[in-house]
Parts: sequence; structure tokens; C-alpha cells
Amino acid sequence: MKIALVTGASSGMGKEAACFLAEHAKKLDEIWLVARRKEEMQKLEKQYPDVKFRIFAMDLLQEVDEDELILALNVTKPKIKYLVNASGFGKIGSFRETSEKNNTNMVRLNCEALTRMTYIALPYMPQDSYILQFASSAAFVPQPGFSVYAASKSYVLSLSLALNQELKARKIHVTAICPGPVKTEFFDVAQEKAEIKLYKKLVMANPKKVVKKAFLDAKKGKTVSVYGGTMKAFRCLCKVLPHQFILKFIK
Ligand SMILES: NC(=O)c1ccc[n+]([C@@H]2O[C@H](COP(=O)([O-])OP(=O)(O)OC[C@H]3O[C@@H](n4cnc5c(N)ncnc54)[C@H](OP(=O)(O)O)[C@@H]3O)[C@@H](O)[C@H]2O)c1
Repeated sequence: MKIALVTGASSGMGKEAACFLAEHAKKLDEIWLVARRKEEMQKLEKQYPDVKFRIFAMDLLQEVDEDELILALNVTKPKIKYLVNASGFGKIGSFRETSEKNNTNMVRLNCEALTRMTYIALPYMPQDSYILQFASSAAFVPQPGFSVYAASKSYVLSLSLALNQELKARKIHVTAICPGPVKTEFFDVAQEKAEIKLYKKLVMANPKKVVKKAFLDAKKGKTVSVYGGTMKAFRCLCKVLPHQFILKFIK
């Protein structure tokens, strides 16, 4: 049985990834969805009545919640053709403004849970399969006012590039998705203590387009997927200019 495993499938880009797979990956037998909000994932079953979904309503901050998924994998022994790690959150605000709990949970979800899900999925991934890890353009340079989030996404980018190299022999391709601001529920969660900067509002991308590009880039063998000219230019700047210099403008 061939499946896709998508975390963060209840909203935003994880949900769009599940939709993309439902519409385009016709050889999949099932799409397995992971997030806390079951009712949001159930909407996908109604949207795509011909596609078989399996829903795992779980909190990736509670390791014990993963037992059901691990058991299902053990019993079914599927071939995971796509792993999409989209669960994640950020909190805008200075390190002092944002709480220790929020920031440590951010690291636990964005880094630790993503790593664990990759470990859980890998034994079931055959040749010519894909791992799509949601990093961010925040991974390109440190970000005062979004420091822990940017650091967590640098981890995802670094891990993805190294993992891609390691998994080449197994023909498993890893792509780090690094969009700039995208119009999803992300900012409802992120703007607890401080507001998103105006320039970010102006370059807000459409989640469907970002996800489509991510899958196309993965198929082309790209290790990093960046949506839009502005973010591509930002990535280039971050490569050529000293980060200390860029930081003067981000502050
Ligand atoms: N939007 C942006 O501007 C942007 C830009 C670059 C990168 N990203 C990254 O892209 C990914 C997707 O974000 P998005 O924009 O689609 O945001 P989103 O709409 O807020 O989606 C986040 C997803 O993560 C899930 N999630 C949150 N906490 C969880 C937990 N404890 N356990 C399991 N699942 C959890 C949420 O589901 P439940 O609430 O149902 O659990 C939701 O499905 C994230 O990794 C984000 O950091 C976002």
C-alpha cells in the first residue's frame, strides 16, 4: 500500500499539501493526516470523497500521542511515498516579550517533532520517495523579533540539506520549503505579543501556489524550494552579504 503522511494537515500549507496529493498523486492508496483538530481534517474527506484518508488527531508535543501512528505503520507496513512535515508555529516578539513556554514548545514542535516524524517514517520510505520539510525564509538569516522561530527553521533547513545528501543512496529526496510570509492561520497564532511587519504583509503569498511549487521543485530534485521573486532575491542577499550587515536592516 502506497501512502503519503502529512503533518499540519488541518490548516494552511499542510492542508494544501494534502489537497495537492489528493488531486495529483493518483497512485497513492491512502493519505494519512496528522494534526490536533480532527474536524478540520475530516473536511478533506468530504472535499475528496474518492480519496481514502486516515486521520490521526494528535498533539505532536505529546510524544505518547504518536503511539497510534506508530502502531498503524507497524500493522499496515505501507510504503510512504511522501512525508510532508508542515506542523509548526511561530510567535512574533522579542525574546524577552515572548514566553519561555511558547519558545521552548516552538523548538519542540518545529525541530524535535519534525525530527521524530522523519525517524518514524524513514523505515517505510522506498526508493523514489520524497520528504518535504517546511522550513522558512526565516532560516536564511537570524531575525531579531522572531529569533527562536528563525533559529528553529535554520535547523530544519540544515537538517534537510544534510539528510538529502545522506539519503541519496536510498533515492529518497529531501526538499526544504522556504517561503516568505504566506496567508494562512500562522499569523493568527504568531501575533500574540507583536504584529507582523508591514513589508511582510505586502509580500504575503498564496498557500496553494507555494505548495504547488514545493511539489514541482521536489520532483525536479531541488533541495530548497523558494516561492516568488522577492524571497529568491532575499535568499541571494543572505548568501552574499554578511549577516551582521543584514541584521542592521531587520532590526
Ligand atoms: N505562513 C507562513 O508565513 C509561513 C512561512 C514560512 C514557513 N511556514 C511554516 O510552514 C508550516 C505550515 O504553516 P502554515 O503557514 O500552514 O500555518 P498554519 O495554518 O497555522 O498550520 C500549522 C499546522 O500545524 C499544526 N500544529 C500546530 N501545533 C501542533 C501540535 N502541537 N501538534 C500537531 N500539529 C500541530 C496545526 O494543526 P492543529 O492546530 O490542528 O494541531 C496546523 O495544521 C509551519 O512549519 C510554518 O512554520 C509558514
